[in-house]
Amino acid sequence: MNPKPSPPASTAAALWFKNAVIYELPVRAFSDWNGDGIGDFRGLIDRLDYLQWLGVDCIWLLPFYPSPRRDDGYDIADFAGIDPDYGTLEDFRELLDEAHGRGMRVLADLVLNHTSDQHTWFQQARSSPQSSYRNWYVWSDNAQRYPEARIIFTDTEVSNWTFDPQANAYFWHRFYSHQPDLNFDEPAVREAMIAVVFYWLDMGLDGFRCDAVPYLFEREQTICENLPETHAFLQELRRRVDERYGGDRVLLAEANQWPSDVVRYFGQAANPAGPGGDAAGPEFHMAFHFPLMPRLFMAVRQEARRPIVDIMAQTPPIPENCQWGLFLRNHDELTLEMCTDEERDYMYYEYARDPRMKLNIGIRRRLAPIVDNSRREIELMNVVLFSMPGTPVLYYGDEMGMGDNIYLSDRNGVRTPMQWNVDRNGGFSKAPPEQLYAPLIQNPVYSYQAINIERQFQDSNSLLNWQRALIQLRHKTPLLGWGEIEFLAPANERVLVYLRRLPKTASAAAKAIPGPRCVLMVGNLSRSSQAVELDLSRFMGQVPREMFGGAAFPPIGAGLYQLSLGPYGYYWFELDA
Ligand code: NOJ
Repeated sequence: MNPKPSPPASTAAALWFKNAVIYELPVRAFSDWNGDGIGDFRGLIDRLDYLQWLGVDCIWLLPFYPSPRRDDGYDIADFAGIDPDYGTLEDFRELLDEAHGRGMRVLADLVLNHTSDQHTWFQQARSSPQSSYRNWYVWSDNAQRYPEARIIFTDTEVSNWTFDPQANAYFWHRFYSHQPDLNFDEPAVREAMIAVVFYWLDMGLDGFRCDAVPYLFEREQTICENLPETHAFLQELRRRVDERYGGDRVLLAEANQWPSDVVRYFGQAANPAGPGGDAAGPEFHMAFHFPLMPRLFMAVRQEARRPIVDIMAQTPPIPENCQWGLFLRNHDELTLEMCTDEERDYMYYEYARDPRMKLNIGIRRRLAPIVDNSRREIELMNVVLFSMPGTPVLYYGDEMGMGDNIYLSDRNGVRTPMQWNVDRNGGFSKAPPEQLYAPLIQNPVYSYQAINIERQFQDSNSLLNWQRALIQLRHKTPLLGWGEIEFLAPANERVLVYLRRLPKTASAAAKAIPGPRCVLMVGNLSRSSQAVELDLSRFMGQVPREMFGGAAFPPIGAGLYQLSLGPYGYYWFELDA
């Protein structure tokens, strides 16, 4: 079954994700239709016009499956259902129809690595060594196997093994001890998870954000991450998705790894000669660029471009039909796993002075509070994000500068109800406030009376309207989704400068994209005004056009090109390639 006709894989239309703006949202937090204090699919459907207005091309839904929600739904108890708090399968189908009718795609979270301990598979597996599900999980009679594997949730877990008295054995888990890892060595597990993928894609879903993909297999004497067996399974998954749906569904990898390891998740074309199991075929269309994210925050605090330039220098090129997913914040802590000890200490010192702001190896804060509600910094960071090679992924609420609540447990402080207007509960729900799944932000700077969509919609100078204009500009500039990046190195290190252009090897599809052929990004990473001199001699005679306002700047001559920028100021210039 193939519910939607797919464009041929080689066209720019098939590679829609390269020019998309993705918006990540938890159904629970977005909008409550039935007034029980918990967001639901009908509430989300009701808000689709807003997302369309904002310019969102693709919604990424956090897990909405039945779950005890001890890891906010990443502990799944039934892969084929909808949590009744969020609605029904019918509601979900309607969401797909309504989103598609507005030209928007929908991605869902796919949690391959583990289940909840409440899943019937685990219940059966633990019940008896003879159960046909026993081998669906990873068991041991001691807690000593795979000692090199790190612990991810360092604040709560002391081991990747937990003893289950019912099974009288230890089970393996990379995350919480109520989230047993599935055993991907068991063929029935691999088939069951591919069946899950087909089930949702058959319904018309456009793809998945694939959770925790580096950890699928375990092997002794390894760190149990990025193993060749894992890549081989992911290639099979991709092959079977492509065979069944003809190439327009998208798989986005959550692999919090260094760039050289992440590129292997794009599969063969990224590493034709690469060692291991990744030489046999494509894997993901997209992968998040985790290491770039903290370095964007480092760069503005250090007032230096080096962290950004260095990490991009370590980022290998990826195939034209693949894409990075770029983000500033998401539903998790601002992870510092892909940082050196020194960088991590710096980030904690600068951005997590209150110990409550730390969680595991990261910082549990939203974008606006992290930068002390500095509009200029928020704009600059978005301008950089939207012009780096990749597809921007926005986190709900950040488009208006929503705040957080570090007094809520785990990562719940960045998952509070969406602030729509000044009505009761910020327009999120008609329930009595004490019935809400989480309190709204109360703090006077970030409360829904101060920060809400309706108010910012009416204010033409609001962050919301600025964010929308940035999305529109990005849509008019597909080059930013396709081109390569070249950093310039002016003497003033506080200014970040790069060119975006199509590579010489660009395909006919890439060359056919409309809009500018070359974009020059200039951003002042410091809190004071800066001057910068650029060697643009190769563009001599051209008149740079500033893309936000359309103004023509002085023509480029033979000498260094001089620019000045206000605090956190930025320009995008259109040039001829
Ligand atoms: C990554 C998800 O982003 C996070 O929220 C979750 O807790 C872990 N995977 C475990 O599923």
